[in-house]
Amino acid sequence: MLEQVKALIDEINSFSVTNSDELENFRLTFLSKNGKVQSLFKMMGKVPKEEKAAFGKAMNDAKNIAQARFDALKSEFESSTTSAKTALDDITLTAPTLPIGSLHPLTQTLEDMKKIFYRLGFTIADGPEIEDDFHNFTALNFPPNHPARDEQDTFFIRKSDDPDVDDLVLRTHTSPVQIRLMEKQAPPIRAIMPGRVYRNEAVSAKSYFLFHQVEALYVDKNVSVADLKETLITFVKLMYGSDVKYRLRPGFFPFTEPSLEMDVWWESNGKGKWLEILGSGMVDPNVFKASGIDPEVYTGFAWGMGVERIAILKHGIDDIRSFYENDIRFLEQFN
Ligand code: DAH
Repeated sequence: MLEQVKALIDEINSFSVTNSDELENFRLTFLSKNGKVQSLFKMMGKVPKEEKAAFGKAMNDAKNIAQARFDALKSEFESSTTSAKTALDDITLTAPTLPIGSLHPLTQTLEDMKKIFYRLGFTIADGPEIEDDFHNFTALNFPPNHPARDEQDTFFIRKSDDPDVDDLVLRTHTSPVQIRLMEKQAPPIRAIMPGRVYRNEAVSAKSYFLFHQVEALYVDKNVSVADLKETLITFVKLMYGSDVKYRLRPGFFPFTEPSLEMDVWWESNGKGKWLEILGSGMVDPNVFKASGIDPEVYTGFAWGMGVERIAILKHGIDDIRSFYENDIRFLEQFN
């Protein structure tokens, strides 16, 4: 009888199991109620008395060996099936999530500004970042020796001694786009002109050699300073809420007369100050003349807003360089 048990144990150990179907077969063969282990147990009655103890022990061993092999194979198949599972085995598996980026705070601010001006009936116009001296300065009524033309402020692309060849500059403001627009479009004009501008300034928390402006131009019959003020006040209320604190001050620009500047109250940690967000004014008749528009028929207003300033005020940012450093810890705050 003990020989039979030994043979059974050999069979248990050598039974080939390479997949879960074969494992089920193994279970049915050895471990089920009608399997070989139980069948042999049923022989107990025929075993001579003096051999019963040894037989019982051998049978228990056989049963434990079968169960242990079954358990080991089962967990082996389970772990290998889960780790090797791919989207092809299970198309309902969710894809691994990738980190989601967000729009740059300056882009977000610009989008907010555009939405407001679309509501107020403005269209969008565009112009080159490399400008000639005529559009960047002369047509905007800058006198020949105005300090803004100075090399301290302006990045020159081409500087020419030949009076027939215009200098080329990186535009120092978006105002030249006004000229380009008036050259090709007859009034009425109501457009904003967003874009990058460049100035040769020392980099600090307050200034950078690159920044963004949103220029605006409104030309029609009977446009007045009241229209300009109304538009600017509507803008700051839509941008910062109706309780925003603002003020308008007289200013000076060669291309507007009269000129106004607008400040918004900036507060952080209980300390506050006025922050200038834009220059504006009524288009100077000389600018109309340089662009082929009759100043006897038309009037207009214009402004140039600083996008960084608008964003700084909106989010309480205290260093303009943060916009350009691509520090993920800064950018992640605008998700
Ligand atoms: N171009 C001016 C600057 O960069 C801003 C400005 C002032 C634009 C008055 C205008 C304006 O259109 O009317 O400082």
